[in-house]
Amino acid sequence: MTSRKIIIDTDPGQDDAVAILLALASPEEVELLGITCVAGNVPLSYTTKNARIICELAGKTDVLVYAGCDAPLARKLVTAEHVHGRTGLDGPDLPDPHMPLAEGHAVDFLIETLRSHPAGSVTLCPIGPLTNIATAFKKAPDIIEKVQEIVLMGGAYFQVGNITPAAEFNIYVDPEAAGIVFAAGVPIVVMPLDVTHQVLVTRARNDAIRGLGTPVGTAVAQMTDFFERYDREKYGSDGAPLHDPCVIAYLIRPELFSGRHINVEIETASELTLGMTVADWWRVTDRPANATFMGSVDADGFFDLLTERLARL
Ligand code: RIB
Ligand code: CA
Repeated sequence: MTSRKIIIDTDPGQDDAVAILLALASPEEVELLGITCVAGNVPLSYTTKNARIICELAGKTDVLVYAGCDAPLARKLVTAEHVHGRTGLDGPDLPDPHMPLAEGHAVDFLIETLRSHPAGSVTLCPIGPLTNIATAFKKAPDIIEKVQEIVLMGGAYFQVGNITPAAEFNIYVDPEAAGIVFAAGVPIVVMPLDVTHQVLVTRARNDAIRGLGTPVGTAVAQMTDFFERYDREKYGSDGAPLHDPCVIAYLIRPELFSGRHINVEIETASELTLGMTVADWWRVTDRPANATFMGSVDADGFFDLLTERLARL
């Protein structure tokens, strides 16, 4: 199996951190060309710092980490310290990074990478607000047709909203950017809350990760110990949903997931439902299908994969 060339666009975020670790632990399936950071869970100054903290935790200090957009296209930034803590990586006590940020803006890295690789050979993996991706598409429309696929975490249908009654956080923070991405015509695979709320880090699963007895296993377990309190309180769930690693797990073992190729539109006008992913799950409209929207996942298979790969770091 040839490895897929990917760029992870991210707002770490404990769950983003686990997604990055899973990618770094899976070189046979995933060639990480770079990490582009965006403001989301916490401001850009933290997301760029956290991405490098995670790369150093994994001992991968040669990863290119770029700073991207520090605010949504047309709105004030909404962050999620109430979920992820002040730093965005609360939980473990990890050292500040030594590795520098890569030179240049994340948007220019996205553009240059897509222009310099053969069409259809680079997959974009956004796991935060879509500001960087949309900005790159606006600045260089020629790159749109070169994207192999976008596999993103965002949106919801049956699970509806987590930051408002109607909207999931990544889409809500920059709905205009999401509208551009979903209308671009690039093949899109969506990991919505409908799927990510099925991959809960139960005590047993977190103990298995902690039981690896490695710095990575211990740090991930401590991230989850912190990150889970919000979802346990709010949903009464049996652990934290590991949203973002679903994107990377899909690249490694797509058979873990199933969904439908349907139309997904983004609400950008109504304040009441701003950022809602209006997913035509039941195909009641004649709007053209533009995304593969996942609805179920083999949660045990997901955690078996994740734990096995984290053990490699
Ligand atoms: O709604 C979940 C998403 O918002 C995840 O990507 C999490 O990291 C936050 O960014
Ligand atoms: Ca994220």
